[in-house]
Amino acid sequence: MPVQVPKDKGIDRTLSIFLDGYEFIQKRTQKHHLDVYETKVLGKKVALLSGEAGVKLFYDNEKMKRNGAMPPHILNTLFGKGGVQTLDGKSHEHRKRLFMSLMTPEGLEELQKLTTRQWDAYTRKWEKKNKVNLFEESLELLTKVGCEWAGIPIEEKAVPKRSKDLNRLIEGASKIGPQYLASLRARNRLEKWIESVIHKVRQGQHETRKGSALNEMAFHQDLNGDLLDKQVAAVELINVIRPLVAISRYLVFGAVAFEENPEWKEKIHSNDEDLRCFIQEVRRYYPFFPFLAALTTKDFEWQQYHFKQGQMVMLDLYGTNHDPRIWENPDQFEPGRFRDYKGSIFELVPQGGGDYDTGHRCPGEWPTIEVMKASFSFMSKHLTYQLPKQDMSYSLREIPTLPKSGFVMKKVCNK
Ligand code: HEM
Repeated sequence: MPVQVPKDKGIDRTLSIFLDGYEFIQKRTQKHHLDVYETKVLGKKVALLSGEAGVKLFYDNEKMKRNGAMPPHILNTLFGKGGVQTLDGKSHEHRKRLFMSLMTPEGLEELQKLTTRQWDAYTRKWEKKNKVNLFEESLELLTKVGCEWAGIPIEEKAVPKRSKDLNRLIEGASKIGPQYLASLRARNRLEKWIESVIHKVRQGQHETRKGSALNEMAFHQDLNGDLLDKQVAAVELINVIRPLVAISRYLVFGAVAFEENPEWKEKIHSNDEDLRCFIQEVRRYYPFFPFLAALTTKDFEWQQYHFKQGQMVMLDLYGTNHDPRIWENPDQFEPGRFRDYKGSIFELVPQGGGDYDTGHRCPGEWPTIEVMKASFSFMSKHLTYQLPKQDMSYSLREIPTLPKSGFVMKKVCNK
């Protein structure tokens, strides 16, 4: 007798995504100790996947595709139209190679150096300020790092405006009303700006560094040997700087983790292996991307559930990073768990899972880790500050979430 896979009965659960936030899938699958659960979102049957087995299925290219899966309001803001996230098969592999080609050891070392240099410059400015909001300041700091690394020219006075727009893409994508509209306008402004830079590069009016993201996106040829449409090239270049700026969220969570686990601030000061463990635990423990979406390519059975061709599937990233079948004491912050960790590519999934080249796993995991390394290392070795009274709690209902105060420091000193 086949087991009946549990379902949400009756009504549509779109609203529950807002109510349950990061725990929307986890609340349903983990309650039943299963990897699959059926619900209804926007009037359609959706299969929710979680856990290592769920991740494996989600990244099976024979059974899942991405084109058509992304809700339009996310495409219009966070990702933009025509980017690598929406491609499948050969065209995805070809475009993905473009991103992977940026991740050379020299490129990553350069990124680490740029990040340290900006931390030094920014903290000298912070010393003269009464109070510093780490989230707001790191948005600017990382905009400078991102543009410099990608080879995009940016004037000093434009940094606050561009960094706010890059953050609007992230914050407005899951909202409705004014915040969503602000995100749409931000995308419009950013694409126009980057399109004009790409135009100048193609016309020979701006010289680029070979191997830089700007150069590679401007001159990348698709499978027919044609240059990318200017708008698509802009979307892909923004696909490099937007997530680099988004690392600001991990920096704030890391600063909170330092406060709650001061012994780890000491440890990473002198030990690179501890620094690596701390970074992995920040990425596992704190909420960032809640879930991903795909569509099934055919009818098939999996764990006694019948998937229908064209059905929407959502993968639980936050819940998988907190799955008690994978992680001991998943809701405790314990960097030491990563000392001898030898997990599969389907377990630790803050930036997606599976294979980089053939699947959609984030090509920016190494750059993310490099930026976090440079930042946490700088913070633990050179930064002293005092903390005024503030609310560092964060809500799992809000997507994307962040400690409420943004982490405010006073009497900052770069020693
Ligand atoms: C994809 C998270 C940093 C570029 C993704 C995905 C997630 C993610 C969840 C989706 C994976 C999938 O669809 O299967 C993050 C987080 C970051 C981060 C939390 C750090 C805060 C970066 C950086 C870059 C980057 C630094 C570039 C330098 C991309 C691109 C994709 C992607 C281009 C699409 C890949 C594809 O569709 O094949 N990221 N990312 N990300 N990320 Fe990141």
